[in-house]
Amino acid sequence: MMQLDQKQTIDLLNSIIECELLGVVRYTRYSLIVTGPYRITIVDFLKEQASESLLHAQKVGEILTGLEGRPSLRISSVDEICNHSVKDILAESLAHEEKALGLYKNLLETVSNSSIDLEEFARNMIDEEQMHNLELKKMLSDFTE
Ligand SMILES: [Fe+2]
Repeated sequence: MMQLDQKQTIDLLNSIIECELLGVVRYTRYSLIVTGPYRITIVDFLKEQASESLLHAQKVGEILTGLEGRPSLRISSVDEICNHSVKDILAESLAHEEKALGLYKNLLETVSNSSIDLEEFARNMIDEEQMHNLELKKMLSDFTE
């Protein structure tokens, strides 16, 4: 076992919290503005994503404070397009989930061989985020243009 890089781990956990909290804002906003024939189903899906992002932020925050880190109160910056068709919302959601997945993969790399618990946690989160990615890809696959 190697020594855990405490600082890098804490910084990464903070980036993840910022990303997950952005997810809360992002999905909540999308759920309010989505229109069209699929609105009801998609609103439920988006609200679920918002709640899950909050749960993830809280979970990651517990780990961060467990490592004696100070949790960030910021959220990641937003880059989004203005045209909000269902397709755009799903595409932006997918981009967001891919970013989150990448952060959890960085976390796994950082903690590998230095903490079994954190390694396990990162793997589980990667698994969960991967499922969201697949789900969004399936939802997007109907839009052909
Ligand atoms: Fe998440």
